[in-house]
Amino acid sequence: MEKLNKINLFKNRIYNFFFVERFFKKLNIEFPKNIKRWDLIQYIIDSFSFENYLEIGCDDDYCFSKIKIKNKVGVDPYMGGNFRGTSDEFFAQNNKMFDVIFIDGLHHYDQCLKDVENSLNFLNPNGYILLHDCLPRSIAHQAIPRYRGSWNGDVWKVIVNLRTRKNLNTITCKIDMGVGIVKINKNTNLLNLNNNNFKNLKFKDYYENFNQYMNIHEYEEVLKIL
Ligand SMILES: C[S@@+](CC[C@H](N)C(=O)[O-])C[C@H]1O[C@@H](n2cnc3c(N)ncnc32)[C@H](O)[C@@H]1O
Repeated sequence: MEKLNKINLFKNRIYNFFFVERFFKKLNIEFPKNIKRWDLIQYIIDSFSFENYLEIGCDDDYCFSKIKIKNKVGVDPYMGGNFRGTSDEFFAQNNKMFDVIFIDGLHHYDQCLKDVENSLNFLNPNGYILLHDCLPRSIAHQAIPRYRGSWNGDVWKVIVNLRTRKNLNTITCKIDMGVGIVKINKNTNLLNLNNNNFKNLKFKDYYENFNQYMNIHEYEEVLKIL
């Protein structure tokens, strides 16, 4: 992972306060302590006897090492996984198809959206795309540029974008900072928004429309929906 410099974090905080958004309310989201992203990923793999897994952003392999499957590819420019490079570099040379793709790389709207678009091109028809860190609790958790150690980025805006697409079913599982689940299928709960400039959505918009935007489900519900 990139090194976080305290002076830069402070500068980013000031920048966000004066030039991006000021909003002080926080969401009180309770995530179950005993269910993590790898539990959901492994459940999907085992339920459908999937064989091919891709993880974008591996860090110290905390998740990647736990996944049991026939073939797995982990992409990270700095550490972990088994492909050294960015997700863009990986997709530019890739010709394999995957059943489950877990996107957990650069948590910025543009890059995360690009990772989803690229993943859709290499997803088997019955496969799933999962995205980590979809449910930030506060403006600091989602601020770009980043000014907090524990941070989710603005991945939530990608979920809002995908929720407006007719050919994708997108839900958010309320575990482990929020795991988005995307399947190529008719959208059964289409989100209609007047504003399609997703990148410019504010944390205030998310705070006020959180359930509608994110299509949130508890873990047990998700297991039934899959
Ligand atoms: C939050 S960590 C991943 C954690 C891991 N998936 C887990 O579940 O434990 C994010 C990782 O994304 C990597 N990363 C940053 N930019 C990336 C990019 N453009 N493509 C792929 N990975 C990237 C970072 O090096 C970092 O290791």
